[in-house]
Amino acid sequence: MDSQLVKLAARRRSIYALGDNISQSPEEIFALVKETIKNSPTSFNSQTVRAVVLFNDASNKVWDIVEDALQKIAKSPEAFKKTQAKIATFRAGAGTILYLTDTTIVHQLENDFPTYAANFADWAEQGLGGAQQAVWTALAEQGIGASLQHYNPLIDDAIHEAFDLPREWQLRAEMPFGSIEAPAGAKDHLDDNQVFKLIK
Ligand SMILES: Cc1cc2nc3c(=O)[nH]c(=O)nc-3n(C[C@H](O)[C@H](O)[C@H](O)COP(=O)(O)O)c2cc1C
Repeated sequence: MDSQLVKLAARRRSIYALGDNISQSPEEIFALVKETIKNSPTSFNSQTVRAVVLFNDASNKVWDIVEDALQKIAKSPEAFKKTQAKIATFRAGAGTILYLTDTTIVHQLENDFPTYAANFADWAEQGLGGAQQAVWTALAEQGIGASLQHYNPLIDDAIHEAFDLPREWQLRAEMPFGSIEAPAGAKDHLDDNQVFKLIK
């Protein structure tokens, strides 16, 4: 069975060698992110996913914040040098997408549907995961590389302050993106028999 989606899914990889040599404008990327997330499902159509798309100094600011936060907890100057080099690879991209969850909606649902109250945080996270993967794949379709990073909660306060984000939006992930300066490495897969079952 030929599937365009499977081919596209295979193109979505974690790209760590990023550059800022992309042809798309910030407005085009923003529109792509918006349309992709609007078409991603959330539990009860609760639309808990929030995304902030940053370019130029705003994107660099994220990685400055990460660097500052990690410097405070660095075990040694040598270890921090390695950390700095890694962060520089994220800063080298064309932009960064922040992914957040609107916890106001999650708490409202917990209140409104007590039977399912224990599920809403998980479902919000699942909705976010779907949205992230969809955006990651949509970027790959345009020839743009990305990876998914998690420096929250270390950076939460500084990020909220820097971009004046509502406190109810909980930071969940950071996605640096840009031109693909080197391809992704080889990836291992578990044996299909360990992962899938066909029962008919
Ligand atoms: C929920 C989730 C969290 C991840 N967190 C990180 C992360 O914090 N840092 C990172 O470099 N990669 C992170 N990744 C990327 C995975 O390591 C990567 O997707 C996996 O190794 C498969 O490689 P691929 O993305 O090239 O297919 C994350 C991926 C997922 C789905």
